[in-house]
Amino acid sequence: MKFQRLRGTKDVIPAESNLWQYIIVNTFKIIEKYGIKLIITPAIEDKNLFVRSVGEGTDIVVKEMYEFKDKKGRDIVLRPEGTASVVRAYIENSLPEKIDLCYAGPMFRYEKPQKGRNREFYQIGVESFGSASVYKDAEIIKLAYDILKKLCISSFILKINILSCKECGPVYLKELGEYLKKNSDNLCENCKGKIERHAMIRVLDCKEEKCRAIINNAPSIKKFLCEKCTKNFALIKNLLKDLNVPFEEDTNLVRGLDYYTGIVFEFITDKLGPQQNTLLAGGRYDNLVRDLGGKDIPATGFAMGIDRVADVLLAEGKKQEKNIDVFIVTDPERIKNGFILLSELRENNISAVMNFESRSFKSQMREADDRKASFVLILGEDEEKNKFVSIKNMKTGEQKQIANERLVEELKKMLEKYS
Ligand code: HAM
Repeated sequence: MKFQRLRGTKDVIPAESNLWQYIIVNTFKIIEKYGIKLIITPAIEDKNLFVRSVGEGTDIVVKEMYEFKDKKGRDIVLRPEGTASVVRAYIENSLPEKIDLCYAGPMFRYEKPQKGRNREFYQIGVESFGSASVYKDAEIIKLAYDILKKLCISSFILKINILSCKECGPVYLKELGEYLKKNSDNLCENCKGKIERHAMIRVLDCKEEKCRAIINNAPSIKKFLCEKCTKNFALIKNLLKDLNVPFEEDTNLVRGLDYYTGIVFEFITDKLGPQQNTLLAGGRYDNLVRDLGGKDIPATGFAMGIDRVADVLLAEGKKQEKNIDVFIVTDPERIKNGFILLSELRENNISAVMNFESRSFKSQMREADDRKASFVLILGEDEEKNKFVSIKNMKTGEQKQIANERLVEELKKMLEKYS
């Protein structure tokens, strides 16, 4: 009997996993520069954690959670996102009030699978606790921007907005609610449901064309912002300009999760469909720590979708071919010499492989080519007798001999020059 992976899940096989490795390694290189610490939390959590944080009326909680009862009848879910889990862990482990954390791992949402939208997908996220400063918001957005730049994604747009606070929110939501109810006949069924669930703000997030027309004429949040929100929004925009981070203001950007309280942002690509064009998204969530039983601590953060970033890099033709530094070619009598050299090269930070099966010289050379080796080291009878190694530069075709004792040093120089 043959098994197949479940719909909406994927095997990241070597043809693509190079790209994933590139994304993960380079993202963490940038994160490291910001002094952020790693946190790892479980993939299964109490269902109520997400009901209370992501929100009872959201699509994620209403329709998309993978939930089950465990053997003791408890309601468990596969985490649909990372923020709530990190906040839970932050409170449960009494972490320092001021701390920046990062994480990576699979998230699960029972969505309609399509390109860039999977049921199991991977996120790298950052959550910053303990600062209410707009400078922190700017720092977090700059971090996200630095990551996408480092990954060499050529086209993306940053959209930002500010959500109304406790003071200015109610007046705006009342006005918005009245407008949407008046126009509800022309909204999609999903949006009608959102109005019934008193989740008016979620309608602004709808990507359906018929809803977009109504949303575009909806009352704008800008007119309702209180003095503090207006000031914060102006400051973040100035800071982003000072940091040379291009952005667009989008007053309809509301995000699909309930916990946001202030500045929100999304990095959008035009390389994937309109329903899954967000590569990275986040914002401020100052009430969540308190709402989940912790102290009154402000927080902000984002998560990036690895699957989508990989799709965009592929669409932009940035396939990462991972080269190997060295392929060692030997004959059956000298496999052991090759094996020992293999280990020595790796100890010296040179990536190297060889074939342990007794294959012909020609087929080993072909394999070296397939593995995209920068150099081939040949260990034959002559080389053994005269204590040298023949080395072939696979890019230029040039071949020369290097004495055994100078091999590592010379090879490093050549790798620096040609790789
Ligand atoms: P989110 O917008 O739901 O936010 O997800 C963040 C990113 O995860 C998206 O921009 C997208 O790249 C990726 N993503 C989401 N759903 C899928 C899917 N079905 N398939 C593939 N990729 C997907 C959050 O999850 C928040 N926790 C972000 C955050 C952190 N806000 C503050 N801190």
